[in-house]
Amino acid sequence: MKDLTILGIESSCDETAAAVVRRDEAGRGHLLSNIIHTQLEEHKAFGGVVPEIAARAHVEILDILIEQAMKDAALSFGALDGIAVTSGPGLVGGLMSGLMTAKAIALVHDLPLVGVNHLEGHALTPGLTDNVQPPYLLLLVSGGHTQILIVKDVGSFERLGTTIDDALGEAFDKTAKLLGLDYPGGPQVEKWAKNGDPKRFAFPRPLKGRPEPHFSYSGLKTAVRRAAKEIEPLSDQDVSDLCASFEAAVVDTIKDRVAIAMRLYREKMQDNGQPALVVAGGVAANQKISQALQKLCDSNNFSLSVPPQQLCTDNAAMIAWAGAQRLARGERDGFGLAAKARWPLDPDAKLALPSNMQGRKGAKA
Ligand code: KG4
Ligand code: ZN
Repeated sequence: MKDLTILGIESSCDETAAAVVRRDEAGRGHLLSNIIHTQLEEHKAFGGVVPEIAARAHVEILDILIEQAMKDAALSFGALDGIAVTSGPGLVGGLMSGLMTAKAIALVHDLPLVGVNHLEGHALTPGLTDNVQPPYLLLLVSGGHTQILIVKDVGSFERLGTTIDDALGEAFDKTAKLLGLDYPGGPQVEKWAKNGDPKRFAFPRPLKGRPEPHFSYSGLKTAVRRAAKEIEPLSDQDVSDLCASFEAAVVDTIKDRVAIAMRLYREKMQDNGQPALVVAGGVAANQKISQALQKLCDSNNFSLSVPPQQLCTDNAAMIAWAGAQRLARGERDGFGLAAKARWPLDPDAKLALPSNMQGRKGAKA
């Protein structure tokens, strides 16, 4: 198999990104350029992502970012072997901006086009950064997703658990908002928690001890709101203690849920060796969470792989890499490639909740 040089484009949420990645003959990844523009400023005033603003912002900047990514990689379009673009899941307006641009470049330069599932991009990132190849256990924790999956191969996933309500990053963001902290909330909560007492508030540990590794975070967020109301007005120390206690509850539930997933992984994959646990998504940047996961890996004989932060959060290198993997298998898409708002990695996964919890808010993709 000859090497493949791929331009990746990402515009599914509030990051516009372009990157060039090379997959060499041995199947190893090389990052040639990686440009990310975050729309944080555009959305800050709204405390979350506004789809119309996001779509417009992608359109305005995408061509400049692509030009920069090609320049950084010192390549012309003629040197590429394909264009990979996020085609879902995400905000349709943003996805369409990326798709139109990718199709135009592919058409003009006669290059194959590959539509990539954004989640698969996150899931395959350790192959690019650390040469970690499937199978492995994946914890995907971002603003839109909280899932634990077995990555069996490119395009082959088994979902073991998911959130029954809020995504973990969303819980961080909402908690930050109700405490008057900036968006995105994760880094803020982490910062404030550093000076806080994690034992001051006894917040719930949702789903802890349940046999299926699902997650639930909306009750935890509500508990923080209630505790904050009771002691209003909040001093800086109160905010720090609330953040620290929230973070401690999150860490506790993650440890419990991932331990169960590790057991399931060994059973299902019949693996008695040292499999890898890969953590991807923006929340993987949280130090308390990654430290807890390192300990858990040490005691369960898993190796931990956390991609570097700029490749853990949304980026186009992961899209280019996943696209390269697909192209290497001879897969490509036609120009009819459409945006998909929902696109689960494991469409067969059922949310096998305990019977007393059925009927609650549906799980996300
Ligand atoms: O993967 P990502 O960049 O975007 C998607 O949601 O796809 O993840 C962003 C999320 C936000 O909810 C943000 O608050 C959270 O990741 N996050 C963190 C930290 N840094 C980012 N959460 C906890 N601790 C952090 N240090
Ligand atoms: Zn993402």
